[in-house]
Amino acid sequence: MEVIEGIADLKRERRHLKEPVGFVPTMGYLHEGHMSLVRRAKKENSTAIVSIFVNPTQFGPKEDLDKYPRDVPRDLEMLEKAGAEIVFTPMAQEIYPEGFCTWVDVEKVTENLEGAHRPGHFRGVATVVAKLFNLVEPTRAYFGQKDAQQVVVIKRMVGDLNMGTSIVVCPTIREWDGLAMSSRNSYLSIQERRAAPVLYRSLLLGRKLWEQGERNPDDIRKEMAGLIEKEPLASVSYISVADPETLAEIDTIKGKALVSLAVNIGKTRLIDNITLGE
Ligand code: PAJ
Repeated sequence: MEVIEGIADLKRERRHLKEPVGFVPTMGYLHEGHMSLVRRAKKENSTAIVSIFVNPTQFGPKEDLDKYPRDVPRDLEMLEKAGAEIVFTPMAQEIYPEGFCTWVDVEKVTENLEGAHRPGHFRGVATVVAKLFNLVEPTRAYFGQKDAQQVVVIKRMVGDLNMGTSIVVCPTIREWDGLAMSSRNSYLSIQERRAAPVLYRSLLLGRKLWEQGERNPDDIRKEMAGLIEKEPLASVSYISVADPETLAEIDTIKGKALVSLAVNIGKTRLIDNITLGE
């Protein structure tokens, strides 16, 4: 496995790699969710490249950029074991040099959900992913369904800008009690960790209601919110029942629906989702 920090080095190395190239962009502090993407990239391609970059431009001024968990030595050990060929660990100064002023702004699908609560977040995500795609030139790139809106935004960007990379979406990996794996779970205290599975439990309640024939998103949201409110450490940021492609809220569920939510557990904001009608 080769660890590359410089853009020039990556570009030089890129010319000699065996095609097809599978790419997994991450912000590090890797867990089984990330590793499932790496294994899939490895299986479906001749070369697997992983990037580790805590992208400053996708964090709001009041968000957790400074305390975002980092452990690159441990990440590299995990990636070595998983058989990644290249790990790209660029410096922020090289990704965003003095004078940087070009942004990728995906409209509409960034207006709701996380986009509404985290202004500028997806501009940062789309810009860094576009830059990484330009550097890595991947055949396929792997993203987790855990960040459902991110997947929609990246697919839209790739389509709209005619990028040559195929986007592969991988299922959400969960802890034994249903909590979706996330680097941010490391912020939770023992009590908060015990409360956190309420996100997935409320999604399962939403699914159960739908299975029983409920098609009114208001009623589903109300029941889900009721369940979450019973958990004293949890407070709902939003619960959404949306069209999985446009992310527009649905009046009546007819076909597929993306049920997603953000919940604060103490000071930690967690997100999760499931799709109905798959
Ligand atoms: P990060 O949060 O590190 O996630 C990297 C990738 O792992 C994303 O595609 C994310 O959806 C996926 N992932 C995270 N938790 C997962 C889980 N429990 N199951 C399956 N996949 C999971 O997402 C980002 O970084 C950044 O926004 C990035 C795309 C790297 C741009 O900076």
